[in-house]
Amino acid sequence: MGIRITPSILNAELGGLNAEIARVPSADGVHLDVMDNHFVPNLTFGVPMVESIRRNTTKFLDVHLMIAQADRWAPAYAEAGAESVTFHIEASDAPVKLARELRGHGARASMALRPATPIEPYEDLLGELDMVLLMTVEPGFGGQKFLDLVLPKIRRTRKLLDARGGDIWLQVDGGVSAETIERCVEAGADTFVAGSAVFSSDDPDAVVRALKAQAEGVAS
Ligand code: DX5
Ligand code: ZN
Repeated sequence: MGIRITPSILNAELGGLNAEIARVPSADGVHLDVMDNHFVPNLTFGVPMVESIRRNTTKFLDVHLMIAQADRWAPAYAEAGAESVTFHIEASDAPVKLARELRGHGARASMALRPATPIEPYEDLLGELDMVLLMTVEPGFGGQKFLDLVLPKIRRTRKLLDARGGDIWLQVDGGVSAETIERCVEAGADTFVAGSAVFSSDDPDAVVRALKAQAEGVAS
């Protein structure tokens, strides 16, 4: 199982994102948290910022949309050049159409679930997806405590993905750190967002490398 670490720049210096991204050269991608103050009670940035980041880096851009009306707004992020676009299932009326549209723009299509949203009703959608993101905090803010109650859902999702075959990534986001990452790997996650754990360090790249080594140690 390949392990990927995609640091979230939510807790980085938002005024100088290109410089912040340059501080994590070992990262497998950069996780960009888009918030609209409707789906979550916080506001970050939108398409122009993603376009600007795209012009300045060749890194894999993993856009996490915490926005209402995902069907209406998500495709623009794929058009902006993001390699992966994650929409929340709670914010999509037509997820199959949306996933196909994202893939049509050349992006990986990914579905996110809030901590209390079950995976089972969406089992038949998995073939339309390249990644499932399971939130391990309530979305909206960095620096929150990891919710252990999501671990059984990570396990159940891993089983569904293995039963299907293929290579759908399973990402966890929220409170991922040296203290919690091993639990996530054991439960079956392979792709890890870490925000505050990475960017609160003086040496964020060292944290990225350490998290990856720790996760690979458990996975192997
Ligand atoms: C929360 C965001 C996360 C967050 C992660 O709503 O989706 O990506 O920034 O930050 P930490 O790792 O600090 O929980
Ligand atoms: Zn996120």
